[in-house]
Amino acid sequence: MAKAKAPAKKAAAKKTSTKSTSRKVAPKKDAATELMELFEHGLKDIYWAEKALVKALPKMEKNASSPDLKKAIAKHLEETKGHVSNLESVFSIIGKKAQAKKCDAMEGLLEEGKSILEETSIGAVRDAGIIAASQKVEHYEIATYGTLATYAKALDLKKAMTLLLETLDQEKNCDETLTDLAKGGINLDAID
Ligand SMILES: [Fe+2]
Ligand SMILES: [Fe+2]
Repeated sequence: MAKAKAPAKKAAAKKTSTKSTSRKVAPKKDAATELMELFEHGLKDIYWAEKALVKALPKMEKNASSPDLKKAIAKHLEETKGHVSNLESVFSIIGKKAQAKKCDAMEGLLEEGKSILEETSIGAVRDAGIIAASQKVEHYEIATYGTLATYAKALDLKKAMTLLLETLDQEKNCDETLTDLAKGGINLDAID
């Protein structure tokens, strides 16, 4: 009898907690009220992320063993510097000063990237880990630039859209290169 009552209590508690978290969130005072503000918010977020990547990528390159992986990371570091300046151009197109706002998602992804270095031995296994962590970063960037380019189109900001699509292409190419490297030998080398 006592056993049957306990789960019923638990279920009731769960129901209450779902109710309390399903309310509409009150917007902050400076909350975006139109798409242009959401666009600007997204630009600040990815601007922080790209600048953080410029600092983080050399460590990844240094920890990679495969010459091809090192080369791919070095190439993408140069592209990433271009992504920072593309964003500065987009800020100037909308008449705003380039400003970075901490991107919690990228901070987490970069933390994960650091942990993977400690959790893998140097060589093919670490290389496979670096590829995994880097692809998570690229996928975040692909999602972000896809969204921002769509916003730019909706806002009729053609030049901004072109710049964002240019960056998006490079993120996609980097992601494909990483897949090729993983499938082309690094994953298999990591088995032994
Ligand atoms: Fe980027
Ligand atoms: Fe990238």
